[in-house]
Amino acid sequence: MTQPLLSVEHLAVHFAGRGRLFSPDPPPVKAVNDVSFTIDSQRTFGLVGESGSGKSTVARAILQLVDIHDGSIHLDGDDVTRVARSAELGFRKRVQAVLQDPFSSLNQVHTTETIIGDPITRHLAIKAGDERRERVADLLDLVGLGHEFLDRYPYEMSGGQRQRISIARALAVEPDLVIADEATSALDVSIQSQVINLLREIQRERDVAFLFIAHDLEVVSHMSHDVGVMYLGYLVERGPSDDVYAQPTHPYTEMLIASIPFPEPGEQAKRRGLRQTFKVAEPPSPANLPPGCPFENRCPVAMDICREEMPAVTQAHHGGEARCHLHTSGPELGGGSVVEFIRSEARGNVGV
Ligand SMILES: Nc1ncnc2c1ncn2[C@@H]1O[C@H](COP(=O)(O)OP(=O)(O)OP(=O)(O)O)[C@@H](O)[C@H]1O
Ligand code: SF4
Ligand SMILES: [Mg+2]
Repeated sequence: MTQPLLSVEHLAVHFAGRGRLFSPDPPPVKAVNDVSFTIDSQRTFGLVGESGSGKSTVARAILQLVDIHDGSIHLDGDDVTRVARSAELGFRKRVQAVLQDPFSSLNQVHTTETIIGDPITRHLAIKAGDERRERVADLLDLVGLGHEFLDRYPYEMSGGQRQRISIARALAVEPDLVIADEATSALDVSIQSQVINLLREIQRERDVAFLFIAHDLEVVSHMSHDVGVMYLGYLVERGPSDDVYAQPTHPYTEMLIASIPFPEPGEQAKRRGLRQTFKVAEPPSPANLPPGCPFENRCPVAMDICREEMPAVTQAHHGGEARCHLHTSGPELGGGSVVEFIRSEARGNVGV
């Protein structure tokens, strides 16, 4: 079996809680808990989930911007969990990031040539001059921008153009993995799809893997080979994107799919009916997680065990994994798929 490019095992990241007057010793914020996934070379793994589910914290842990409470991260088999060790392995060159807001992540006082050229000098030891300028021009070709952008400043560009510059900068040092955290979320829908298509083209041309993070399951599954769905710091479902999208095996994934607008009126009505079966409730706080399933207070098919025990990760029928008691303790399931079960319950409740 070939070794994955990135392997995240049982990752946990906890932040210190904020003290208050009458509770000076607050519990930690458990932002990421027991998260495991792998990314193979030249593949895209998508991470999706609502705001606060821990997606960026996973990204920041891989980029070594936050301390890890538990678990490990390996790149090509090398343990890069600790910064000192990874510094020896040229980690900064191998893993690059493209973030949501290209305006604040690009240095406003530098031209494109410097913005993209500086990492080339730092990591590939090519000094400013003709060779470096030529490399930057090639990268502009790759991201679909003309050479006139070489001497432009970020404030002279549109949001989509700035994001293309950020992508070119990330690719400049020939990384193995690019982490794109909400890289398209701030862009208009039409520009968003251009940038997504660009990333897909780049992957065909260059030997690069992506960790693609976004709120929208449709966008993420379009972009990714495999997808992970996060809820309150847990990876609740993971598997091949098309299968997770077509046949989800976790109620929360089903809820995300039911929330996607659909042009066909019949299907739209079905989704609306399905949406109504999910209870309206605030998710628990990551500083005070319940003993059972964190999705229990919103789940339309919760059982007694869900309140008491945290579900373990089990194999799902699409070949991936799910963290839900329905896979192990749901006598009502009777061997059928989870999604059919939820839909039949929903049919009973609201006639979808
Ligand atoms: N430095 C920090 N200190 C304390 N809590 C934090 C810190 N960073 C993140 N958190 C908390 O960790 C949880 C996960 O946050 P994170 O930013 O990873 O979520 P996210 O899925 O990326 O959300 P979004 O979709 O809004 O970007 C949230 O409850 C957040 O408030
Ligand atoms: S474990 Fe229980 S509450 Fe959680 S998603 Fe599965 S059925 Fe619903
Ligand atoms: Mg985030």
